Amino acid sequence: MAVSHTLLVTGGAGFIGSHTLVELLAAGFDVVVFDNFQQGSREALRRVQALSGRSFPCVEGDVRDAAALDRLFARQAELGAPIDAVVHFAALKAVADSVARPLAYYDNNVQGTLALLAAMRRAGVSRLVFSSSATVYGEPQALPYDESHPIAPTNPYGHTKAMVERILRDLCMAEPDFSAVTLRYFNPIGAHPSGRIGEDPHGAPDNLFPYLTRVAIGQLPELRVFGTDYATADGTGVRDYIHVVDLAQGHVAALRHALSGPGFTAVNLGTGHGTSVLELLAAFAAATGVAVPWRPAPRRAGDIAAAWADPRLAERLLGWRASRDIAAMCADGWRWQTRHPDGYAASGAGSGNSAGKP
Ligand code: UD1
Repeated sequence: MAVSHTLLVTGGAGFIGSHTLVELLAAGFDVVVFDNFQQGSREALRRVQALSGRSFPCVEGDVRDAAALDRLFARQAELGAPIDAVVHFAALKAVADSVARPLAYYDNNVQGTLALLAAMRRAGVSRLVFSSSATVYGEPQALPYDESHPIAPTNPYGHTKAMVERILRDLCMAEPDFSAVTLRYFNPIGAHPSGRIGEDPHGAPDNLFPYLTRVAIGQLPELRVFGTDYATADGTGVRDYIHVVDLAQGHVAALRHALSGPGFTAVNLGTGHGTSVLELLAAFAAATGVAVPWRPAPRRAGDIAAAWADPRLAERLLGWRASRDIAAMCADGWRWQTRHPDGYAASGAGSGNSAGKP
């Protein structure tokens, strides 16, 4: 029974982490959040608690800190609620930043996961769900990407995800009790339909959807469409956008799979549908009534023309499929943005280094 399981959720205060907490709590899991709050928000955790009507421990710490992890596992055991499984989000995730600061990415993402895995072994915990990315596939050899597509990332961030997947695969071979489900996310956008939690990037957003909602609300003057001459139907880049709540529910399904038996599994979390930049702008205008000003701009270095998932393995293995469409992604993301023009910062506690615990 799910009700009796206690989960460690690293990076639970981030965009995907906070939405996943809501779904894990709704599914009856108990959670302990571990986050260094460099990107995540304490206010997001307060809101998850309010939305779910459940409180949970939130420990400030860094996954590279072995002693802090040991203390957390030991404390949970003392409390009679030992950690049964880990959902591991904590990582750095900006592609351009990873090119500029590769060591920070290998340290946080690879070394951080090694420290976590070592602490899990010391504590006898052998179930993991890992936050990976479709970026591990690199340039598509064929579309849609299925899980057997070659792994060939094109930037340090992608390499950190591919390396961790390799480590998990090797660990599952060496330790027949260990189970790891690695989730290859496509492009998560949108927000919880309550409008209470959402994406809160620090500074100018790198990704399309948070950038376009900031233009829509008037904080940025216009969207630059990076490349209008791709070999796609309208010349703009095509991606598999997935509602963050669908993605979050995919974690619940993945966790149940990880708890059900050992082995390494890599699964795409996407919808199987591609949407171009211009199609997303049109869908946003239809869902919200806001036409976002845009202009053509040169291609962004490292971008590919098109990417979308073959989502069938997730359905077959996990019994999960995405159900929310682009209109819902736009409406829900816009609700969050209009209610929180300045993200969580306006809620007093801010996101980064403010004091106070949820
Ligand atoms: C990017 C990362 C990917 C990461 C993902 C996380 C790169 C090259 N890839 O994916 O590794 O896993 O974010 O969510 O950074 N676009 C514009 N104008 C903008 C921003 C984006 O036209 O201001 C276009 C892009 O060219 C692309 C599409 O919108 O065609 C989606 O871009 P984005 O949201 O950044 O996602 P990815 O590039 O797919």
